[in-house]
Amino acid sequence: AAFDVVVVGSCNMDLISYVPRLPKPGETIHGHKFSLGFGGKGANQCVMAARLGAATAMVAKVGDDVFGSNFVQNFKDNGVNVDHVQVTKEAATGVAPIAVNDDGQNSIIIVSGANLKLTAADVREHESVVTHAKVLICQLEIQPETSLEALRIAKQHGVTTILNPAPAQATLDPELYKVSDIFCPNETEAEILTGLPVTTVEEAEKAADVLLDKGCKKVIITLGEKGCLCKSSKSEKGIHVPARKVSPVDTTGAGDAFVGSLAYYMACHKDLRLEEAIQKACHISSISVCSPGTQTSFPYRKDLPQDLF
Ligand code: RIB
Ligand code: NA
Repeated sequence: AAFDVVVVGSCNMDLISYVPRLPKPGETIHGHKFSLGFGGKGANQCVMAARLGAATAMVAKVGDDVFGSNFVQNFKDNGVNVDHVQVTKEAATGVAPIAVNDDGQNSIIIVSGANLKLTAADVREHESVVTHAKVLICQLEIQPETSLEALRIAKQHGVTTILNPAPAQATLDPELYKVSDIFCPNETEAEILTGLPVTTVEEAEKAADVLLDKGCKKVIITLGEKGCLCKSSKSEKGIHVPARKVSPVDTTGAGDAFVGSLAYYMACHKDLRLEEAIQKACHISSISVCSPGTQTSFPYRKDLPQDLF
């Protein structure tokens, strides 16, 4: 089978507490709402692409527990192929306790568990799903060498690759840049990777140049309410795509909505210019911040303005 979008990445059960403000160290505060949700950057991006209509497959590991089996069912409910989602007895399904404050800002703890049991050897064993993809997406919530192996295999077979280097890490294996057609950090990740401030579009341009120097083909830095910046070469000016003005309720997973949507457009609307694909992906991501939760806030194709397709 051939897939539009394949994700090799993480599954985390999100344990979300809604709080008036994020707690300080040593402090106990009351939250006013709790919810369980399917999350993990890999799963989120895959589900987003699937909800837009991409044929998707997930390569991942979950634990032999309730969260793991619920996860597999959730992928199925979203039309994601689960032939390459393995269940391990070696660790529990990944979890992410999350706090979201009244401004929609969050803080997240990730306990990776089974995600870290997904190895480069597993990827080689499931190689054909990667080589038959139109677009492969990876993140950094699994072992970096596992992501690297997937990206390498994809590149060798002419598959378009997107690396979302999240969560932030100060040093990356330099090869990760070279196997990325699109390198897509958010502003914080770009700051940590380059050592430069990324608070304005101009600063994002400078950081993008540093990242391009490391060997990725294109850089897209997401800038939250400022939209994002795309740069393909140091000699050309970057393209700034502004975001729509919205009142955020919960920004958790907004970056994943963007990356998953971008992959969908690249795989399923090949004639679209990258700038337009980015605009549409930004639009979808901005819808996701207007409702609570991660995947729970990701829209379905049928509920979106049809000029997005
Ligand atoms: O990007 C949002 C995701 O980060 C959440 O779903 C949580 O699981 C963490 O992985
Ligand atoms: Na949201």
